[in-house]
Amino acid sequence: MTKHIHQNASLKAYNTFGVDASCNKLIHIYSENELPNIYEQGYFDQNTFILGGGSNVLFTKDYPGTILKVDNKGISHFIEGNYIYITAKAGEIWNDFVWYCIDRGFGGVENMALIPGTVGASPIQNIGAYGTELMDVFYSCQAFDTHTGSFTSFSKDDCKFTYRDSIFKTEYKGRYVITAVTYKLSLQHKINTSYGAINTELSRKGINNPTIKEVAEAVSTIRVEKLPDPSTIGNAGSFFKNPIIATDFLQSLKEKFPDIIYYIVDDRKVKLAAGWLIEQCGWKGKRDGNAAVWKNQALVLTNTGEASGTEIYNLSSKIMNDVYQKFNVKLEREVNVL
Ligand code: FAD
Ligand code: EPU
Repeated sequence: MTKHIHQNASLKAYNTFGVDASCNKLIHIYSENELPNIYEQGYFDQNTFILGGGSNVLFTKDYPGTILKVDNKGISHFIEGNYIYITAKAGEIWNDFVWYCIDRGFGGVENMALIPGTVGASPIQNIGAYGTELMDVFYSCQAFDTHTGSFTSFSKDDCKFTYRDSIFKTEYKGRYVITAVTYKLSLQHKINTSYGAINTELSRKGINNPTIKEVAEAVSTIRVEKLPDPSTIGNAGSFFKNPIIATDFLQSLKEKFPDIIYYIVDDRKVKLAAGWLIEQCGWKGKRDGNAAVWKNQALVLTNTGEASGTEIYNLSSKIMNDVYQKFNVKLEREVNVL
């Protein structure tokens, strides 16, 4: 019997919404080598959920099965030619990994500083921020197959990364425990400050030729200003994805809403800023019972203190309905609803 099993455990401390839910069993793993034993004891079934930092989940009820909390740690790297290969265990905090790179002068992940959560979750929704996505630096990941009880690995192509999506959210949903991720960074990295407010923030500080550390600090400052800190205000970052629509449809929307904010994806598709759509529906800063829409960023839903997961979920449904009525655009939840 493995040591780290808790029956009827509270999940309040394990989800950044701070929702008070519980689960039948909570198993912490501190080494990937514990997984075969857990498999042999029959803990993996369709009711097992793999949890990292809980910063992209919403529990709408007590979880009826086992939660496997991944807490294995360790980071190492080697340099070959022009590249640095860094392997981080899944339980490492993402931002600690980012600073492991920055402290050694390795560029490539600085624009993703301060994204909450763990390394193991980073490929799941292909995390991204400020002009960089995980897929830009991902090399491979190691994983445990909960269906067969064996270890395997995935290359970048295997993962089928797209915007906020990967094979781990679709055909392999819930099947693999990611145990470590290997990132490939270039020794000839070029700093990218083109997104949003980064340049403004750097100019404010009088910085013209930023180092990777200065970019990470600028991104961190912007994030702290815009996003609520989950340690004081429960939230899971963007609750919805930015919707991708056909360019033709955008033209008709622009006739009615000339200020609509969008980004070109390719010659047939554009990505709309969902925060703008939600704000236009009057939701920004609004409260609905114990759930609310963040005052500085309408894509973020918050727990005002005692919200249940259902209250937050119901607020998200109202927003989706209003956006659909006004713009004929369907929002999709980014957060994993359980
Ligand atoms: P969890 O919430 O624990 O899990 C998320 C999903 O990953 C679940 O499906 C879970 O089953 C799966 N999972 C977790 N660990 C593993 C593992 N080891 N093996 C297999 N599956 C696993 N995201 C962005 O992309 N960009 C942002 O800028 C951003 N900003 C945020 C800001 C705030 C304030 C918050 C609270 C969240 C933000 N997020 C952002 C969302 C979140 O940080 C990411 O989705 C993050 O990757 C979630 O990591 P986690 O460890 O908390 O995962
Ligand atoms: N906007 C509004 N009103 C709002 C919010 C945003 O008009 O209330 C406008 C902004 O003015 C800006 C545009 O929408 O012109 C985009 O806003 P922002 O730069 O804040 O980014 P976002 O599209 O809202 C995405 C990610 C974030 C990521 C940032 C920065 C998604 C779903 N969200 O947000 O990721 O940090 O870009 O790169 O793609 C997350 O996934 O949890 C997350 C926080």
